[in-house]
Amino acid sequence: QKPLSIHDLAAMKRQGEKIASLTAYDASFSALIDAAGIEVILVGDSLGMVFQGQASTLQVTLDDMIYHTRCVTAARRRALVIADMPFLTYPDPLGAAVNAAKLMQAGAQMVKLEGARFEVVRFLVDQGIPVCGHLGLQPQSINRLGGYKVQGVEAADADKIVADAQKLQEAGACLLVLECVPAKLAAEISADLAIPVIGIGAGVDCDGQVLVLYDMLDIGVGKRPRFSMNFMQPPVAIAAALSNYRQAVKERRFPALEHSF
Ligand code: KIV
Ligand code: NA
Repeated sequence: QKPLSIHDLAAMKRQGEKIASLTAYDASFSALIDAAGIEVILVGDSLGMVFQGQASTLQVTLDDMIYHTRCVTAARRRALVIADMPFLTYPDPLGAAVNAAKLMQAGAQMVKLEGARFEVVRFLVDQGIPVCGHLGLQPQSINRLGGYKVQGVEAADADKIVADAQKLQEAGACLLVLECVPAKLAAEISADLAIPVIGIGAGVDCDGQVLVLYDMLDIGVGKRPRFSMNFMQPPVAIAAALSNYRQAVKERRFPALEHSF
C-alpha cells in the first residue's frame, strides 16, 4: 500500500473531510495509529518532553529526529509521516535543506518547522521537500515567549498570524499547524487558506486536528494541556482510543468548547 500524499490531504480539505493526526515516536504506536486510519503521523520534537523527559523541546537533536523518524516510518503503511525540524537546525535555507534531507532520507514525506521562515520554506520546496508550517504557540521559542500560553489574542498579534499564514502558503508550504490560538482566529485562517490547516488547541473549525499521543492516552510525564483530551477514559483498549479519536475528529466532536480558546 502506498502512503497518502500531500494531494490526498489537499483533496480532503476540498471535500470537507477532517484530517486526523497524532504524534508518534516508535514503530509500535506508529502501526497502531496507522491501523486506526489516522491520516497523518507527526514525529514531533515533543518527544523531547514526553519521550526524553526534558522540560522543553530545545534539547532534541537532528540525530534524535532521524532515529525516531526511522522507527515510525518502518511501521506505517498508509499514514503520511511528517518529521519536525528541531531547534536551530534551519537557521538559513542551505543549512535547513541539508538537515531536512536527512529526515526525508529517514522516510519522512514532509518536514515541519516553526515560525515565519518564508525564505527557508521556499528553498526547501524548491529542493523538492514538502513543508508544513507551524504558527501560533511555537515551543522552540518558549524562552522568548515565557510560557505555554494562547497566542494571537491581541488584535495586532492575530493580524500577524493571519499575514504569516498567508505568506507561508505563498512560500510553498502545503500544510500549516496552528497551535494554541483562539478558535475564531483559526477558523478564519482555515477558511482563508487553500492549504489544509491542522489545529492543536485551535478549535474545531480547522481542517484537521493533531494531539500529542501520550497526552491523549494519558500517559504523559507532565500535566495534560487543557486543549487535549484523555481518550482512555472511560477505560478502553489503546486501539479503541485511537479510533475513537479519529471518529471524534471526523464528526467534529473533538475539540469541544472546553478544549478551545
Ligand atoms: O512536536 C509536536 O508534537 C508538535 C505538535 C504539538 C504539533 O509540533
Ligand atoms: Na513540534
